[in-house]
Amino acid sequence: MARSVVVGGNWKMHLELDSAVALASDVRNRLGSQRGAEVIVFPPFPFLVPVAERLRESRVAIGAQDLWPEAKGAFTGAVSASMLRSVGCEWVLIGHSERRHVFGDDDALVARKLTVAMAEGLKPVLCVGERLEERQAGRTFEVLGRQLDTALAGHTAAALASLVIAYEPVWAIGTGQVATPAQAQEAHAWIRDHLRGTHGAAFADAVRIQYGGSVKGSNAAGLLSQPDIDGALVGGASLQADDFAAIVRARAA
Ligand code: 13P
Repeated sequence: MARSVVVGGNWKMHLELDSAVALASDVRNRLGSQRGAEVIVFPPFPFLVPVAERLRESRVAIGAQDLWPEAKGAFTGAVSASMLRSVGCEWVLIGHSERRHVFGDDDALVARKLTVAMAEGLKPVLCVGERLEERQAGRTFEVLGRQLDTALAGHTAAALASLVIAYEPVWAIGTGQVATPAQAQEAHAWIRDHLRGTHGAAFADAVRIQYGGSVKGSNAAGLLSQPDIDGALVGGASLQADDFAAIVRARAA
């Protein structure tokens, strides 16, 4: 089945107000009327409102990099799903490797965040991926299976209709050491096959799986031409609008 391409730009903890707004304008100019691919940017929290303003009435959607899975209350420093909705977020990253490995989000917290995001009407990008030592120990699929199962257990295929999965091998993130198209395809095919078992063939065939980890304009075509790679989640290269646009256009619609 034909799945549409979805490309996200995760700006992580980069930029300041002026440079964030300038980047949003540049992305809009290059991709604001792009067809054939869904484009999302994930700015830091303080820039969501001005970036959303810049992207209004364009085809570029906006998402948040994280949320806290409570509605409101005494959670200093945290941001709720309804706050994100109220400033125009459509999407949210859940379980990014930096949340898991720098901030200590465990599988149970990732699962709670996913549940709350969907309950509040945010479309989740669930990030999964193995660390280098796990790959070297031959445990890649065991890790991916655990991350997927703990997050998706209890959700029906229908409830997960808006879900996007991002396969981001930790060893490829921010290292310049991109997975080869064959390595990425192998993991994506495994994920799809696993989901066929847990959530059925129709869901597995429809769900979009992004690859993330050192994607650039120069290596995107090889990755995006793989049968089970439906887009990219881009860190560093998403801070350059020209490179980000090249990634979005890497697979002809
Ligand atoms: P890089 O593209 O900088 O490797 O980051 C990937 C990533 O973590 C996107 O979420």
